[in-house]
Amino acid sequence: MLWLKNAYVVDPIQGVSGVRDVVTRDGRILLLGRNIPADRLADGGEMEVVDCTGKYLFPGFVDAHVHLREPGQENKEDIASGSRAAVRGGVTSLICMANTEPVIDNQALVELVVRRGRQTGLARIYPLAAATKGLRGEELTEMAELQECGAVGFSDDGRGIQNGEIMRLALEYAKITGCPIVSHCEDAALAGQGVMRRGRAAAARGLAGIPATAESVMAARDVLLAGETGGRLHLAHVSTRGTLAALRAGKAAGWDITAEVNPHHLILTDEDVPLTNSSFKVNPPLPSAEDRESLLKALADGTIDMLATDHAPHTWEEKARPFAEAPFGMTALETALPAIWTYLVRPGLLSVERLVEAFARRPAERFALRAGTLRPGAAADMVLFDPDYEETVSAERMASKSANTPFLGRTLRGFPIKTWVEGRLVFER
Ligand code: DOR
Repeated sequence: MLWLKNAYVVDPIQGVSGVRDVVTRDGRILLLGRNIPADRLADGGEMEVVDCTGKYLFPGFVDAHVHLREPGQENKEDIASGSRAAVRGGVTSLICMANTEPVIDNQALVELVVRRGRQTGLARIYPLAAATKGLRGEELTEMAELQECGAVGFSDDGRGIQNGEIMRLALEYAKITGCPIVSHCEDAALAGQGVMRRGRAAAARGLAGIPATAESVMAARDVLLAGETGGRLHLAHVSTRGTLAALRAGKAAGWDITAEVNPHHLILTDEDVPLTNSSFKVNPPLPSAEDRESLLKALADGTIDMLATDHAPHTWEEKARPFAEAPFGMTALETALPAIWTYLVRPGLLSVERLVEAFARRPAERFALRAGTLRPGAAADMVLFDPDYEETVSAERMASKSANTPFLGRTLRGFPIKTWVEGRLVFER
C-alpha cells in the first residue's frame, strides 16, 4: 500500500482541487480524502508513506499524439525509449501514430505495438492505425479488424487526406466503429514547399511559407463531412484561427468533433524561428502571434478540448541540415508539462484545473481509455509534481533517443518528480 499525504490533488472528474491524502492498494486508488485516520488503513499490509506537502498530485497524463517511430526508425525512437520519455514527463498513457516504416496499416503491426508496449511496462501504449493503406490516401484500411486488435482510432497523421471522398468514407466507418478519425489537416497544394508559417517572419528570413489556409481549408472540409456523416472527428494539432472558426461552427451544430493543440503552438510564434536551428521546424508550423493568442483562449474556454504533444523525434544529423531541408517535428514528451507550467500556468494564462482536464480527462474520454482520474477504483496512474523544481533542458538528461526540442538550454520551473503506473513507481527525479 502507498499513502500519499497532504498532496494538492487536482482531478476534474471528481471536482477535486485541494489538499487531500491518497491511498493505493494493489495498483488501484483505494481512498481519496482529507486526513485519513490511520486506523482505517490497518489491514496488516505493508504501507509506504510519502509526504507530499507543497506538491501536486495529478492523474497520470494522457497524450493523444505521439510518434514512437517503431517499427522502422528506431534510431530516432522506439517504444521502450519513448515510454521512458513519457513517464519522465508525467505521461502514463499515450496514443502513437501510424506513420512508421512500414506504416501501421495491418493487424500484425497494431499487435506488435500493443505487445511491445506491454513488454516495456511503463506508460500504457495505444496505437492509432493508418486511415488509408500506406498513408497513400487512396484506399481505406480494414478499420473494424484493426480496432479489434487494439487500434483506438485511425489517422494518416504526417499528411492530410487530400481526397474528400476518402475522408468522407473514413468518417462513415468511424460512425460504425465508434473510433475517432484523427485528421492532420493540410492541403498539400496550398502548403507547397513551405517550411514555416507564411507571413512577415517567413519573408524576413527568405523562407518559403505555408499559408494558414493550408490547414483551415481542410479543417473546414472535415468538419462539414463530420456533420454530413455523423462520424467521429478529432482535429490534430490545431494552429490557426480559420480552423478554430470551423471547429466552433461544427461544435455549435452539435457534431461529434474534438480538437487538440500542441504546447509549442501555445508558447512559441513564427517570430521565434531562428534560421540556424531547425528544432523550431514543425508541421503545422509555429503560428503568428495573433493565432497563438486565439489558440490559448480556445484552450482555456474549452473550444479546443485537449493538449497533446505531437512528440516527433528526429536525429541530430537530419536536424543539422539547413532549415529548409530538415524534417518537420520536435520532441516534447519530457518538456511539455514543464514548459506549459513555466509559460502558461505560472503566469496565470491557464488554470491548473484546465490543464488536468485538457491533458488527462478529455483525451481519456475521447479515445475511451481507462485513465485520467484518481477516483477510488481507478488504476493508480499518478504524477507527483513539484511546481518549484527547476531544471535546464539538456540532451544528456533526455530518455528520448532524440533531443530536437526548441526548449534545449532553457531553464524550466515545475517538473514531475515521481510517476506511478498501476501503483508501481516507474520514474523518480
Ligand atoms: O512536425 C511534424 N512531424 N508534424 C507531423 O505531422 C509529423 C511529424 C513527424 O512524423 O515527424
